[in-house]
Amino acid sequence: MKKHNFSAGPSILPREVIEETAKAILDFNGSGLSVLEVSHRGKDFQAVMDEAVALFKEILNIPEGYSVLFLGGGASMQFCMVPYNFLEKKAAYLNTGVWAKKAMKEAKGFGEVVEVASSADANYTFIPKDFTIPADADYFHVTTNNTIYGTELKGDLDSPIPMVADMSSDIFSRPVDVSKYICIYGGAQKNLAPSGVTFVIVKDDAVGKVSRYIPSMLNYKTHIDGGSMFNTPPVLPIYSAMQTLRWIKAQGGVKEMDRRATEKADMLYAEIDRNKMFVGTAAKEDRSRMNICFVMAPEYKDLEADFLKFATDKGMSGIKGHRSVGGFRASCYNAMPKESVQALIDCMQEFEKLH
Ligand SMILES: Cc1ncc(COP(=O)(O)O)c(C=O)c1O
Repeated sequence: MKKHNFSAGPSILPREVIEETAKAILDFNGSGLSVLEVSHRGKDFQAVMDEAVALFKEILNIPEGYSVLFLGGGASMQFCMVPYNFLEKKAAYLNTGVWAKKAMKEAKGFGEVVEVASSADANYTFIPKDFTIPADADYFHVTTNNTIYGTELKGDLDSPIPMVADMSSDIFSRPVDVSKYICIYGGAQKNLAPSGVTFVIVKDDAVGKVSRYIPSMLNYKTHIDGGSMFNTPPVLPIYSAMQTLRWIKAQGGVKEMDRRATEKADMLYAEIDRNKMFVGTAAKEDRSRMNICFVMAPEYKDLEADFLKFATDKGMSGIKGHRSVGGFRASCYNAMPKESVQALIDCMQEFEKLH
């Protein structure tokens, strides 16, 4: 039976990327060696790293003066690297979910942290709109897509100070004005690669300004200077990331990813709003196109486990909602085909007919 992979992360990758990665595991560039067993400093892998960085910059239209890094440690490591490198006195954070809160917690160890606004009291079902960003803070941190709650910032905010963004779950799903940010980071395991690598876009002249000592591995300058090779980088996920970037470019780049994301999300939200058995959990204006969260309507609440089984039996995988929201979450990342979204809609309609 065909499986439709709605997992929130690690998550669906283009089939071509998985096939190319499998080929390189068996024989990397016709070398007779696996990509798993060659030096990261060899010319073949250096070419992979160079292409991944070049495509990253090209596809996101990253201006001059920025570096793209591929590091270990996950987005969670960036929660501490960001304040380590950029927080001298004060930083501002927008609290839109558990990941934003975790980022904020780490920053508190380095200086004053201003929570400009929070939707915690409403279980993060919306993104706060009216807030003031302190003009004297070192940076303003946002989480552009809230993977757990299914809310998304629809574009780049205006800020009087440079922004830092966690784009773990929406990178490459829309064009980004990188010049508004000094740092954009994310775990790659949603829209880019298998888990194990973290991407960081960092403005070169924003680093080296804080007065504290920064351990080498946590210092962006180390990795900028070392071309992400200060230590052994996560070779295999970087290889897959390079393949995904080729795929995104071949499909038409972020403009096309953006168009597809809206098309798929519109289809599924239209069904959630039409179908009497389901209700969306996020405020309509903030609905994420990447993580579509919904629950059973109150009068059908008892049927949650039944629908999960019904959909799973029809090949839907990974649609169980996060424990802090409940219900269902259909993650529709870049590689998710429209046909899979349609298959889920068909399931919802069949289930409705049965009840
Ligand atoms: C928005 C966001 N930030 C951070 C993380 C944490 O990423 P990692 O597991 O790579 O540390 C996640 C993981 O799901 C996420 O969705």
